[in-house]
Amino acid sequence: MKRLLPTLRADQTSESLISVINTIQIAAKEISFRLHQGALAGVLGSTLDENIQGETQKKLDVVANQLLKTLLLESPNVHAVASEEEDSIVESPNSGHYLVAFDPLDGSSNIDINGGVGTIFSILRKPEGEETSENMFLQPGKAQVAAGYVLYGPATMLVMTTGKAVRIYTLDQTVGEFLLTHEKADIPKDTKEFAINMSNHRHWAEPIRAYISDLLEGEEGPRGKNFNMRWNAAMVSDVHRVISRGGLFTYPWDSRKPEKPFKLRLLYEAAPMAMLVEKAGGKATDGYSRLMDIVPEHIHQRVSVVMGSANEVDVCMDYHKQHPKPC
Ligand code: F6P
Repeated sequence: MKRLLPTLRADQTSESLISVINTIQIAAKEISFRLHQGALAGVLGSTLDENIQGETQKKLDVVANQLLKTLLLESPNVHAVASEEEDSIVESPNSGHYLVAFDPLDGSSNIDINGGVGTIFSILRKPEGEETSENMFLQPGKAQVAAGYVLYGPATMLVMTTGKAVRIYTLDQTVGEFLLTHEKADIPKDTKEFAINMSNHRHWAEPIRAYISDLLEGEEGPRGKNFNMRWNAAMVSDVHRVISRGGLFTYPWDSRKPEKPFKLRLLYEAAPMAMLVEKAGGKATDGYSRLMDIVPEHIHQRVSVVMGSANEVDVCMDYHKQHPKPC
């Protein structure tokens, strides 16, 4: 079975990008190890204890952030990082050519119930001549040079694209290596499965209400087929299901908190997932337009997300076309 780094080389990935990805996978293996220790994680040692001394009692999302940040900032190829857990970007003492944005532990409320969680990452090129500031990161998703996630489930999987196919690797715990287990993810165009937090139904805007209520009508309704619903409450797990067997994943605009009408972050959640979904043959939108075209206004910007099987995303967008964007 092919290992990660030789596969990247066979894909003609540059050595500098391989080195950044290598750093991410080293951090991911450490996070995976700690997660699999469960409640024991606070008392068992780890190879990186030195870097996070005194922090072993901290929540795992903080530990995951510290690991990724520390290792990436040591890389000669990284210029700066942006993280869900950091208010501002963090600059590296090295002036590498890459910027890395990440959500260190997506779906972290699942940790308490031993459910699936993941790390999402997006790699951008540092714009030439740009002063070091948050502005460097404000690039549309289509500018990403690589995007991926690590799913810490019963198995730890790395799902990634460097602009070519979406490759899926599984961590072989016996040798501590990610091995290529799926050469090319391919999302079926049609689906009978959707993922949404139904408890927000009363807060949704008209297009998504109308769309979901037609799905729920099943064979008797306008769609003429029965749909099944799944919700893991961790984007990584839900999108992984979509990448593995198709489906539609959405976290739409809602009116619960007018100052926070969207939940998911553009830079390090929606954009990398959009790149993966598109490269696997699916579509990724905010209901109205392509997610990968949206230029973030700030690093923690939130956005509405509708992604997955191409034909189903088109159907969902048709419902949106009849209504103006809520904001
Ligand atoms: O990043 C936020 C997140 O945890 C996603 O991973 C997930 O899709 C969503 O929030 C879950 O939201 P809710 O708590 O509404 O189920």
